[in-house]
Amino acid sequence: MNIRLHDGPLAELECDALVLPLTGGGALGQSAATQVAGLRESGEVTGKPSELTLLHEPKNLAARRLMLVGVGDELDATQAFHLAGQAVRVAQQKKFKRLAIAFEDGGLIRALVEGCVYGGYERPKYKSDDSASPVEEIMIVAPGADELAFEAGRAVGESVNLTRRLVDIPANDLGPVEFADMAESMGSAAGLEVEVLDEPALEALGAGSLLSVAKGSARPPRLVRLSWNPSNAIGGSHLFLVGKGVTFDTGGLSLKPANSMEKMKYDMAGAATMLGAITAIARLGVPQRVSCLLGLVENMPSGTATRPGDIVQAMNGKTIEVINTDAEGRLVLADALTYAVRQGATHLIDAATLTGAVSVALGSVNIGLMSNNESLQSHITASGLAIGEHFWALPMNDDYLDPMKGDLSDLRNAGTDRKAGTITAAKFLEQFVDATPWAHLDIAGTANLDKELPHAPKGASGIAVRSLVCAVENWPNGGPG
Ligand code: BES
Ligand code: MG
Ligand code: ZN
Repeated sequence: MNIRLHDGPLAELECDALVLPLTGGGALGQSAATQVAGLRESGEVTGKPSELTLLHEPKNLAARRLMLVGVGDELDATQAFHLAGQAVRVAQQKKFKRLAIAFEDGGLIRALVEGCVYGGYERPKYKSDDSASPVEEIMIVAPGADELAFEAGRAVGESVNLTRRLVDIPANDLGPVEFADMAESMGSAAGLEVEVLDEPALEALGAGSLLSVAKGSARPPRLVRLSWNPSNAIGGSHLFLVGKGVTFDTGGLSLKPANSMEKMKYDMAGAATMLGAITAIARLGVPQRVSCLLGLVENMPSGTATRPGDIVQAMNGKTIEVINTDAEGRLVLADALTYAVRQGATHLIDAATLTGAVSVALGSVNIGLMSNNESLQSHITASGLAIGEHFWALPMNDDYLDPMKGDLSDLRNAGTDRKAGTITAAKFLEQFVDATPWAHLDIAGTANLDKELPHAPKGASGIAVRSLVCAVENWPNGGPG
């Protein structure tokens, strides 16, 4: 898909469809503007978000179609992203090849380009009669648009799609080793330093918690570190982005029911999110030191699998009784977080499809946010708000740790009931971050779409990548906290 900035009178733009946000038709040819005004007056078109109207043979325009997309009261970065994503998807369905999108000012160019790239996402191809009809060219008319912001939009959009692709690939084609290989090639291409720790290396580090999850699988685990260490880094902080990368979660011996188990290929979405985010950060050349750790394992039941009741020792020395082998994400993150602290992390953010309970609490609208640091927490929330991703902070009273305290061991990986399951999981993770400012993102309810949205098909949403990039771009000097 070739996206480029274009300059010139809208009425003369030759394309299959000209896309306009419904905020007014000032720059349109007179007759088309009158047509649009008429539709508004009749009440047929209201301009509410995602309302889409396609006018055929618009008067006095060279465009074959005029596509009006409602943006509500105000055209902001969130609406620009949604509009572009939706327009590109509709264009694909209608088999339009040449699209033009016009905004009255260039200030929203980055969100607009991010949305175009997002909308153009092609899911991994497994259908023999794939009738996908990609848009070939998008011309953007946005007076005053900045070339750098345009390119940033492309880099971020492509990084989000990298995340989505990894999440959508089925687990037979993406195990821990395949994921690590992808991370290595994508990371090096983006200019990151990459280190891949294999099973013997993890054993030498004493990563008994992570390794206990991998034991049931024929596929060996990996811990991947990617580092962005720019020479112009400011402030001296070193943020670690840590991702849960369970390439498939059967539940292990505490086997999940068959119903919907196929969805558990998305249990590596946290790792894919962090890989997408650090790739974008590197491509944008953000002057901040950032590393990423991906804990990659497959959770399978077998004769070599960890049993409920087994006690394992984590890298930081703490012992954990494995009550439920399906509470495996926290076991993987425990060692990844310890490793991050050992590597000198000054700030930690982890992303994980950690609990089913987060969907019960927040549905697919908000990411569950849990933190030991107020300023990091509000920095993340504000970054999300700026681009239309929602984070909701949950309480972290120490009382929530009680169910996770062990009887025979220091900790247990599951409580005795399901109460506050998202928070008790976070309190478990907190035992591995020492006093480092840390935030945990539970994306189990939001990383995968069960229903399509106007701007996105079913499947991986790529959520949190853009918020994290935005959080690092606006990182306060020395970091929050
Ligand atoms: N990967 C799951 C969480 C999950 C559930 C993600 C649904 C996406 C959709 C996680 O490993 C898990 O199984 N968690 C258990 C924890 C419980 C055993 C304490 C859960 O949420 O039921
Ligand atoms: Mg599980
Ligand atoms: Zn899981």
